[in-house]
Amino acid sequence: MYNLNLKKSIAGHKLLATVTITVVLALFQTACTATAAGSSTIVPAATSTSVAVPVQPDPDAAKPSNPGGVGPALALTGDAASGQTIFTTYCKVCHGDKGVGGVANPGSKDGTVPSLNPIDDTIAHKDLKVFAANIDLFVEHGSKPDGDKPQLSMVAWGDTKSMTPQQIADVIAYVISLNSGSK
Ligand code: HEC
Repeated sequence: MYNLNLKKSIAGHKLLATVTITVVLALFQTACTATAAGSSTIVPAATSTSVAVPVQPDPDAAKPSNPGGVGPALALTGDAASGQTIFTTYCKVCHGDKGVGGVANPGSKDGTVPSLNPIDDTIAHKDLKVFAANIDLFVEHGSKPDGDKPQLSMVAWGDTKSMTPQQIADVIAYVISLNSGSK
């Protein structure tokens, strides 16, 4: 009788111990899962910053002869009013008043510097961010027109650091405004 009761009581303690360990393990696991869940909320935040990929130019748009991707100006907001002053100072000499063109370019296949008002219709785009990216490549990297010996070439304003990214953003906004922003 006595022995039997003792055995039962030992068995009872073992059971209690097992239950306790299981509960502790369960709590531990919950804590780990909570930590994992907590860190997993950080992951979407990190991926959402990589959504801000700079907009890319239209692959079918006219491209400058000089290589290179879009510049830092595209991450900024351009001010067309400031861009008008910049245009008059730096661009008008080759692209004409308000970009209407007509400036002779001896030695180039076209014979004149291209008009920016209206702009080449492959550069114009209904999505203004793509429109800006199409213009940006020319302003950043410059371009030599087709032809034996073009007298005038598009200046690499960005690559030569002749203009700041904000000035480039502003003049892009002005060129878009000349074209009413539509294709
Ligand atoms: C020294 C003359 C010169 C100056 C100054 C100049 N450009 Fe140009 N630009 C050109 C020439 C030449 C081309 C044609 C390049 C080609 O055909 O590859 C051109 C092409 C462009 C194009 C592409 C147009 C097209 O139809 O291919 C844009 C956009 C442009 N210029 C914007 C500007 C802006 C904005 C400024 C002022 C910040 C500026 N340019 C200043 C000579 C100039």
